[in-house]
Amino acid sequence: MLKRRVVAKAELDNIIERLAEELNRDLVAKDPVFVGILKGAVYFFTALTQRLTHSVVVDFIQVSSYGSSTNSSGTVTLVKDLTVDIAGKDVYVVEDIVDTGITLVDVLALIAARHPRSMKVVALLSKPSRRQREVPVDFVGLEIPDVFVVGFGLDFAEQYRNLPEIWEFSEEGG
Ligand code: IMP
Repeated sequence: MLKRRVVAKAELDNIIERLAEELNRDLVAKDPVFVGILKGAVYFFTALTQRLTHSVVVDFIQVSSYGSSTNSSGTVTLVKDLTVDIAGKDVYVVEDIVDTGITLVDVLALIAARHPRSMKVVALLSKPSRRQREVPVDFVGLEIPDVFVVGFGLDFAEQYRNLPEIWEFSEEGG
């Protein structure tokens, strides 16, 4: 059940606007490819890239991690690969949330193997207290405590992605 609203629409807009301003400064003299991690990052990715004042190439990658609905197992497999050549490009990986860091470490390894000129990470949310892998997150929207959240792309068992705001979710009722 949805327990508590964690990020309201107006706050989301402010966070994304701030991140876009930081990115607009960073994009000077870059040859950027923005890579969204499907499916969770889609809502954030579209909101963010529309606020950029530079033209950027966009692409998507999808990985899956096997485990329960609220905990990843640490095994990440590639479901959908990139379609553009990122060799020599400045890649910005856009993720919905960095939790243990396992997904991002594996995605960054996949991307690094294609020899980009640079690689940076943009995450809407981060749960630093849950980190198991050290992973560089260059642009962070909001740090949150160890709660499971849904909405604005984030799911529980594929549900709730389309909620316009971010809510804490609990499997228990009441
Ligand atoms: P990590 O590999 O543990 O860092 O987890 C990253 C992925 O797990 C994210 O891209 C999400 O798909 C999922 N995830 C982690 N925390 C949450 C959450 O609170 N709600 C929904 N999905 C989450």
